[in-house]
This record gives sequence, structure tokens and C-alpha cells, in this order.
Amino acid sequence: MTNAYISGTGFYVPPRVVTNDDLVREYEIETTDEWIEQRTGIRERRFAADGVGSADLGLEASKMALDAAGIAAHDLDMIVFATLSPEHCFPGSGVYLQDKLGLCAGQNIKYVPCLDIRNQCSGFLYGTQVATAMIESGQCKRVLVVGAETHSHALDLSTRGRTVASLFGDGAGAAVFEGTEADKGVRGIWLGADGSCADVLAQKIWDIRQFPFVELDDEGFGRIPPLTLFAQMDGKTVFKHAVTKLAGSLMQALGETNTRVEDVDLFVLHQANKRINEYVANKLLKVPEHKVLHNIERYGNTTAATIPILLAEAVRDGTLRPGMKIALAAFGSGFTWGSAIIDW
Ligand code: UT7
Repeated sequence: MTNAYISGTGFYVPPRVVTNDDLVREYEIETTDEWIEQRTGIRERRFAADGVGSADLGLEASKMALDAAGIAAHDLDMIVFATLSPEHCFPGSGVYLQDKLGLCAGQNIKYVPCLDIRNQCSGFLYGTQVATAMIESGQCKRVLVVGAETHSHALDLSTRGRTVASLFGDGAGAAVFEGTEADKGVRGIWLGADGSCADVLAQKIWDIRQFPFVELDDEGFGRIPPLTLFAQMDGKTVFKHAVTKLAGSLMQALGETNTRVEDVDLFVLHQANKRINEYVANKLLKVPEHKVLHNIERYGNTTAATIPILLAEAVRDGTLRPGMKIALAAFGSGFTWGSAIIDW
């Protein structure tokens, strides 16, 4: 049987560092480094420059992942792009990335399918499921899965928006999935969703049920009030559900693969809030601290990009090595969630 494994990882974060203190100094948000750090573990995040979008960030991460896998973009059979911050309403970021990878012109034309995934923080895990299924079924040999976000251009960087604005940052991670006959790779993925909580964390820029779908002024220009323009979140409800769903989906992954907590070398959890992960991993599952990867203190919540960035960094600093067993889990808007077990 063909197994799907990750043959190369990559990541990219924009160079501009924005500390918690910068949110106060530059944007005059009424917050403090202490408030944000104590509740979330975040100290700083990256903001992309004007003119830079998710496909641009994804391109840099993808180049690194392709290099690491030792293949060229032309060797890919499919691109899966997970983001909640695509360049435009449509088309998705996947096709922009395909073009930036040089697959739409010149010597290396390859009209691979490009699929965008709109599952927010669980986007990379949903993408992992698609890539694994395409490879195991023989429909693709190599699939690029990218998670990338340009949150900063759509944050309400004012005191009014501070609950959301203090959490999110920009960045991208990428992974090349390939087939192998070796006894390794993705052992299973478990996904879930609860649409009854769809409104708990949402950015409802327009309402397509209405005509016109945004309010228009006399000259036909759209007028969008801040409550719908920017993402809104009931943070306490997200926190509660995140703890139970992350713990539950990790238990499911462990149970269905007959894996004990102590058999797992590394836990690679979505970076939404360091306190959520500490509660789930250390308190509920009794995982020793050194087995739980985190980088939220440097990047904030990069949504679909958190897990592939963690993987890429861990490969590069030698924390994640061949032969290790890792557990992945994510939870976010939708609500959607997922977990996976991978033998690296
Ligand atoms: O991928 C999923 C993404 N989201 C999450 O995972 C978020 C999960 N939730 C959380 O992490 C927490 O709920 C937060 C860190 C977002 C908020 O912490 P909290 O303890 O639940 O605060 P709260 O929303 O209940 O707000 C408490 C107070 C409010 O002031 P009042 O109304 O009590 O006067 C907020 O206005 O804290 C205020 N507040 C802030 N103060 C300083 C909210 N954001 C900030 C801020 N700085 N950045």
C-alpha cells in the first residue's frame, strides 16, 4: 500500500516584527504587553508590507519546501492552499500561487488542479487529509499543501478591535506530500466540525442573502460598518470549545492508532493561545512540556500557517527527526477541528 509522507517543509514570515508594546506605541491600542502575554503567551507577531498577500508569503514557504523535498514546482500534481485571508473574494489564493510558481507560462507550464480550503485554523489538517487521500488513492504523486495568512491588513488595529487584533499575525508554511511504499507517513487524520457555533468567530464582510449584499450609498459605493468589516469573536466560548475539542480529537487519534501519550515524540498543536495548549497537553493529557512545540510567542496566531511553520522550524533546528512519531491537532472558526498521527 502507498503511504503519504511529508518529504519537504518550508516556512516564511515577513520581516517586520510588531511587539505587544508596538501595538500600544504605533497603533495607540489600550493594552499592555503583560495583558497579552499572560493570557495568550504572545510577545510579538509579524506584519506583511503593503502589497504583499497570502500567495506571496505562500510562495516563499513553498520554494523552501520544494527545495527540501528535492523537487521542482513542475513535479507537483496538485496545490492545496489553506487560508482565511485570500487576496480576493474569488478566485482563491491557490491559483495565484500556481502562477507565481511559474506553472502557467514558459517552459514549465503545468495546469495542476488548485484547491483552496476555507477551514481557518484547521485548514492545514483538512489539506493534509486531501493530500493524503489523493496520494493513497493513486490520483497524485506529489501534492503541495500550503497554509498562509495575511491577517494584519484586515485587523481592526484600534482599542475597539483589541481582543482580536492582539492575537493574529502573518506567515506561511508549506509541506510537500509524496507517496512511499515504506512503513511511515500519515497514519490517520480525524476531522470534525460544529456549524452551530459558526457565528462565534467570524468575519461577515457581506451578507449574500441580502440585496444589495453590502449597504450602498447614493453613489453606489459599498459601506461596511466595523462590526461586519472586521472579525468578531466571543473569546471565552472559543477557549472553552478549543480545550474540549482539541483534547477529544487528540484522544481519538491516539485511541484509533493504539498509541499511548508516551509513544508520541512531539505534539504539534495549532498556536491560538499558549494557555489552551498548556491546559490540553500538560494538564489533561500529562504530556511533558518539552514534547509540545510552540512558537506563538514569536508569531502570534497565524491560523492555517501555524502547524506547517512549526513543522518547518522543528525540522530545521533538529527537533523533528526521521523516525519520530508526532501528533497534530487544531481547532478554530467554524467550529472546525482535526488531529493526525504521522510517523516522520
Ligand atoms: O484559532 C482560534 C482563535 N481564537 C482563540 O483561540 C481565542 C480563544 N480565547 C482567548 O484566547 C481569550 O478569550 C482572549 C485572550 C481572546 C481574551 O481573554 P479573556 O480573559 O477571555 O478576556 P475577555 O474577552 O473576557 O475580556 C476581558 C476584558 C474586557 O474588558 P472589560 O469588558 O472586562 O472591561 C476586554 O475588553 O479584557 C479586555 N480586553 C483587553 N484588555 C487589554 C480584551 N482584549 C484586550 C487587550 N488588552 N488586548
